[in-house]
Amino acid sequence: MFRKIVPRFNYLLDPFIYLNFKYLFYPNQKKGVASATDKIFFYNARSALKFLLESISVKRAVVAVQLYTCETVFHAISLAGYSIVFIDIDQNLKLNRNDLVAKKNSFDILIVTHTFGFPEDIDEIRKIVGNEVIIIEDCCHSYLTKVSNNYDSGCQGDAAFFSLGVAKFPPIGIGGYIKVNNFKKFLLYNEKYLQLKTHTNKLLNFTSLIIIHVKSILFLNLIYNYITSIFIMHFAKKVGFTNKGSFYQYLAPPWVVEIFKANTNLFADMRVKQTKNFKMLYDLINCKSIIPLNCDINNVNGYLFPIIVHGQEELAAELRKTGYHVGMHFQNCVSWGLRYGYVEGSCPVTEDITKMILTLPVHPRVLNIHLSNMAAIINLNEIYL
Ligand SMILES: Cc1ncc(COP(=O)(O)O)c(C=O)c1O
Repeated sequence: MFRKIVPRFNYLLDPFIYLNFKYLFYPNQKKGVASATDKIFFYNARSALKFLLESISVKRAVVAVQLYTCETVFHAISLAGYSIVFIDIDQNLKLNRNDLVAKKNSFDILIVTHTFGFPEDIDEIRKIVGNEVIIIEDCCHSYLTKVSNNYDSGCQGDAAFFSLGVAKFPPIGIGGYIKVNNFKKFLLYNEKYLQLKTHTNKLLNFTSLIIIHVKSILFLNLIYNYITSIFIMHFAKKVGFTNKGSFYQYLAPPWVVEIFKANTNLFADMRVKQTKNFKMLYDLINCKSIIPLNCDINNVNGYLFPIIVHGQEELAAELRKTGYHVGMHFQNCVSWGLRYGYVEGSCPVTEDITKMILTLPVHPRVLNIHLSNMAAIINLNEIYL
């Protein structure tokens, strides 16, 4: 049925994907020699990042990260026992190179975020910070983003972490995984890996699969239109829909790993569709300068479509009224940062962008008609741009 309301994200996969009971009988992720393990799956990306940071060294170190990110990243760094240096972004939502140069001697670890699926240039960043700095790629928005024609994001840093959460791509509902490219920089990796807990409890695995299955039904078009969207608009913040506070330091249930492995073709198809939507919206919006884009569109995974506008709240309200659930990503990152040592005014571009950003949905369930309607509303309101 035609989707009346377009959700911000492609929340969760289709329900039939979770309905495979063989997922319940897979063994837990094996705990063996770490170098033999390609990816390790956790309950979410923040726990995966915390694990990576704890694997580096027992000594206290300083982690640099862009202020323009999710609060859970700051939380993970702090729980791992590190302090934070905040780096600004530029108008293209990339790590601000001037700020990076100015602060390059003040940190040991750098988290580079491929924000909204736009690839960062890790080689260029490496040249600025030098070989001693440990670079961790935050690929929570950039699954299947190409950093160059040959490589996906996550291949060039010393390690990378990805998210499979409800509002991510791919939207499995639970999960995050890590990929380590340079084990020499993660000396405690094996030791920490062996300490990780797995779920031997089959009942818990079963319950988590059932819960995700029920949630995925709630995101079917018809139910979303008339029930779920109303709940999300009114109550999601109060009940913590995406559960940003939880740090569940367990390996992910085996079904998460199996769904991830069994559906790589589906995710590749989803990527094709959302990149197509991305390009179409790009062509439909009149004022190209509003799109912070300075890279080959074909490399972008189409996770979200950011625009910079004056009159953010008004345009968001207008789009939402018409059924388009746009986001204002990381709008609160300054206040989050303040809790972790950010000094107001030290990342001015980020502070400006949080007041102007809108993120538009281009996920696979967004139809051409929705893209045309969103573009028409934005073009009509060009006074804001
Ligand atoms: C850029 C970025 N990094 C990390 C995370 C944390 O992901 P997770 O919710 O899987 O812990 C998020 C979550 O929104 C994010 O947007």
